[in-house]
Amino acid sequence: MKLIFVLLMLSSYAVLADDDSSSHSFKVNADDDISNPKTPGVVPVNNPLYAEECGACHFAYQPGLLPARSWQKLMLDLENHFGENAELEAEEQNALTAYMTKNAAEFSKYKRSVKIMNSLAKNKTPLRIIETPYMVKKHDELTPKMVVGNPEVKSLSYCNKCHTKAITGSYSEKDIVIPGYGNWED
Ligand code: HEC
Ligand code: HEC
Repeated sequence: MKLIFVLLMLSSYAVLADDDSSSHSFKVNADDDISNPKTPGVVPVNNPLYAEECGACHFAYQPGLLPARSWQKLMLDLENHFGENAELEAEEQNALTAYMTKNAAEFSKYKRSVKIMNSLAKNKTPLRIIETPYMVKKHDELTPKMVVGNPEVKSLSYCNKCHTKAITGSYSEKDIVIPGYGNWED
């Protein structure tokens, strides 16, 4: 089962890989320790166009938070983006889709990406990170008052309101501060 999974990942990566893939340090190793402190969160955003365009209305979600199929679906309908028009020029749209696909959760060995993928059924293509089973479970102790009823948060989609190091790709429990409530303690 594990081997099949790895083979699937490798083959889908090969299809998506382009010319500069040799400089990419991507590697799938069944023995990788996903709790390795070097790869604890998700890969931080390193594409300035993405940070600017997709960080204009909310935190620029790291591509490692959703599978490629979700990003591709989302990018095909930016005109109707959660009630907003987030349309882009075709050239930018293509460049960003390529970046997001290449860095999507299934191609990452970072802990959170692996956990998100493991929680997600193959036939599901969520458009929201917060609807993936892993994320639902991780946030089930929050009360509506802390989130939607909290004027400083508004919705769970605003990750960086509580995860003070979200921009670095880290969602570690020790860095969670709920506005108006303080440090998160289990
Ligand atoms: C014009 C403003 C705007 C821009 C630009 C924008 N978004 Fe959004 N996005 C929104 C709104 C509004 C929501 C819904 C937030 C909520 O439910 O509270 C959203 C939600 C999302 C979500 C779902 C988050 C979750 O888990 O709930 C994703 C993923 C997303 N956007 C990705 C992107 C990407 C990728 C781009 C760049 C191509 C982008 N957005 C650009 C306004 C925008
Ligand atoms: C209202 C505050 C709040 C918002 C907004 C929020 N989170 Fe969280 N997040 C939490 C809390 C609280 C936990 C639970 C920590 C625990 O007890 O393990 C958590 C847990 C997590 C974890 C697991 C951390 C761990 O140590 O196990 C991840 C990953 C995560 N959130 C990512 C996100 C992402 C991505 C977003 C945005 C799409 C988001 N969160 C939005 C408060 C928030």
